[in-house]
Amino acid sequence: MKVDGTHYRSLWWDADKDALQIIDQRWLPHEFRTQSVETLQGFADAIIQMRVRGAPLIGATAAYGMALAMRLDPSDVHIAHAWEFLHNTRPTAINLRWALNRCQAALLPLDLADRAGAALTLAHHIADEDVEINRQIGLNGLKLIQDIAAKKPSGEPVRILTHCNAGWIATVDWGTATSPMYHAQNAGIALHIWVDETRPRNQGALTSWELGSHGIAHTYITDNAGGHLMQHGHVDMVITGTDRTTRRGDVCNKIGTYLKALAAHDNGVPFYVALPSPTIDWTVSDGVADIPIEDRGAREITHIVGRNDAGEITEVQVTPDGTPGGNPAFDVTPNRLVTGLITERGICDASEAGLSAMFPDLAG
Ligand code: MRU
Repeated sequence: MKVDGTHYRSLWWDADKDALQIIDQRWLPHEFRTQSVETLQGFADAIIQMRVRGAPLIGATAAYGMALAMRLDPSDVHIAHAWEFLHNTRPTAINLRWALNRCQAALLPLDLADRAGAALTLAHHIADEDVEINRQIGLNGLKLIQDIAAKKPSGEPVRILTHCNAGWIATVDWGTATSPMYHAQNAGIALHIWVDETRPRNQGALTSWELGSHGIAHTYITDNAGGHLMQHGHVDMVITGTDRTTRRGDVCNKIGTYLKALAAHDNGVPFYVALPSPTIDWTVSDGVADIPIEDRGAREITHIVGRNDAGEITEVQVTPDGTPGGNPAFDVTPNRLVTGLITERGICDASEAGLSAMFPDLAG
């Protein structure tokens, strides 16, 4: 997508520098900074520190990390080491394991001399594939938005609530939850997006930055406002992303998603989840019981980062000294609260039957 008129992906290969380039998202929405990632530790830090974040982007980054690892040492032992090292960065988004497993399976049968080249080619392929998956999710989600728009008086916006940032910077391009919005905007459909701030890290500010850059009307709201807006008939649908969806369609996403789903259910608001197939964990059924939830520590709760009037990006403490903070970073929305899953192949029920009919080749 475009930033100040220039087309960017959220990561790209710079042939001159012979290195991966990323957008350091810690500085957004205030500053647009890019950087090279050139060591295995640098890849792990980029994921842990959330310079790159969002499930699909974490997966693509890890694939490039494996490509770097193969340049350093293409042995079987080093594949296992890189797998473990990169996998230990963040526990919840399944795309990380998906990408590393895919790389490992492709590389192990190859001669050592061929592994570095093949790993880089595969990382490029995973990145390109992510773009196409998200584009298709957008086209499938567009139909839902068109249906709602068709029932409204001409020019009245379709009002969509979203949580966190499941936008183009959380993927390689397009985003998952935002892709239907970008496609609807391109199709000339009036939109208004309610953007949850998504404390503690305020990924909603990233979503606002994206939507604002693309001329999509939106309002940044507190995490607690969604239920009230739904009760008063101001939300036509909810679309969120997902970090891991189980084989029966339980959806793990940024903390607070579950409460939005409960409020949507109580108010008869359709609750859709944009789901790329690499985000399905076919090995897990009960998401509440079996998905590991990342704990990111108290400081993200007790402090907040922003830009002051002098233009400096700074961190301030919001709690009394010594206040303990609890920070589970994700929650699980049970499948019964999900109206449908918008995948690259179409929209299906959030159920084992729905997912395995959509992806018979993956379901096993
Ligand atoms: O902690 P984050 O910022 O990596 O969490 C991101 C989310 O929860 C997104 O909604 C999810 O990864 C879907 S991204 C297309």
